[in-house]
Amino acid sequence: MTAPDLFSPITFGSIEAKNRIVLAPLTRNRAGAGNVPQAIAVTYYTQRASGGLLITEATQVSPEGQGYPDTPGIHSPEQIAGWKKVTDSVHAAGGKIVLQLWYTGRISHSVFRGGKTPVSASAIKPSGHVYLPGWTKADYETPRALETTEIPGIIAEYAAGAKNAKQAGFDGVEIHAANGYLIDQFLRDSANQRTDQYGGSIENRVRFLVEVTEAVAAAWGSGDGVGVRLSPHNPYNDMSDSDPVALFTHAAASLKRFGLAFVHVVEPIGTPNPIAPAIKAAIAAPLIVNGGYDLGTSQSAIAAGETDAVAFGKLYIANPDLAERLKAGGPYNEPNPKTFYGGGAAGYIDYPALAKA
Ligand code: PHB
Repeated sequence: MTAPDLFSPITFGSIEAKNRIVLAPLTRNRAGAGNVPQAIAVTYYTQRASGGLLITEATQVSPEGQGYPDTPGIHSPEQIAGWKKVTDSVHAAGGKIVLQLWYTGRISHSVFRGGKTPVSASAIKPSGHVYLPGWTKADYETPRALETTEIPGIIAEYAAGAKNAKQAGFDGVEIHAANGYLIDQFLRDSANQRTDQYGGSIENRVRFLVEVTEAVAAAWGSGDGVGVRLSPHNPYNDMSDSDPVALFTHAAASLKRFGLAFVHVVEPIGTPNPIAPAIKAAIAAPLIVNGGYDLGTSQSAIAAGETDAVAFGKLYIANPDLAERLKAGGPYNEPNPKTFYGGGAAGYIDYPALAKA
């Protein structure tokens, strides 16, 4: 048997992927009325089906989980029907696709929440700006700390999102526990100063993630269709932690019992003190890494046993046939950052594939 590389098949729990090239979850802000995925989303995901696994853009599990304009949801019948068109088309093209379950927490605004203040682990306002509907910029608001008694209701929304994703035909779900959104706000101590069983010690800060994962795995039917995304070092959304190595290796060890499909770690290449391999060992699930990888660095990371698969973001935005292009060693289209967020077909479904020889 030859050593695996980027083009070798891999099994993520119950999901058989034809290669180890993964579409990273990418916010594109092109949902229609009611935050329903549109026909252009069907085209966008289907164009990328030659990758082994597609992870959808972050998708709010409830109306109150939203924090950006025109992001899709997975809480209404219309959204489920919209996503079903995506999954049917990706499957017909031979692809596999999982839905990313999202609740933004403090990275939101009362305008998205029917006038209600955003919620978080603690009442700590992040630095930075939120974009309101229509793309006007506003300061973040100081969030309200969730009452201990409210937490089961939020967990139930993640579980309902997983059930709805199953109904929409997805191959699995990814729990978004990264990048400063609600679960990460519980994990990292710059955002969590709670004094109940969800704050303080590492074990307590990991509790919300573990309870969400338990509920999502039960809603899905088992853990083997469920992945988790973590970002131990990412400062995005005003996040930090006093001991990320201890926190995230404990988080991974706490998730081992669910037999998850994969763990997905946002850890830009060259990150000092990388802990993705320790996370993989602790969780005992296939590892997907994400953050600035190219063909050469992906192949060396897989060959060295540092990861099992690699998720690509910007490169996959600009190259729908990324798997074929990596196989050919390029060339690659350049991504245009002006069309990353919002708009329509331009910069979304009009990047050309390589001409067939
Ligand atoms: C964003 O819309 O800026 C965004 C969304 C989800 C992420 C990261 C960034 O995980």
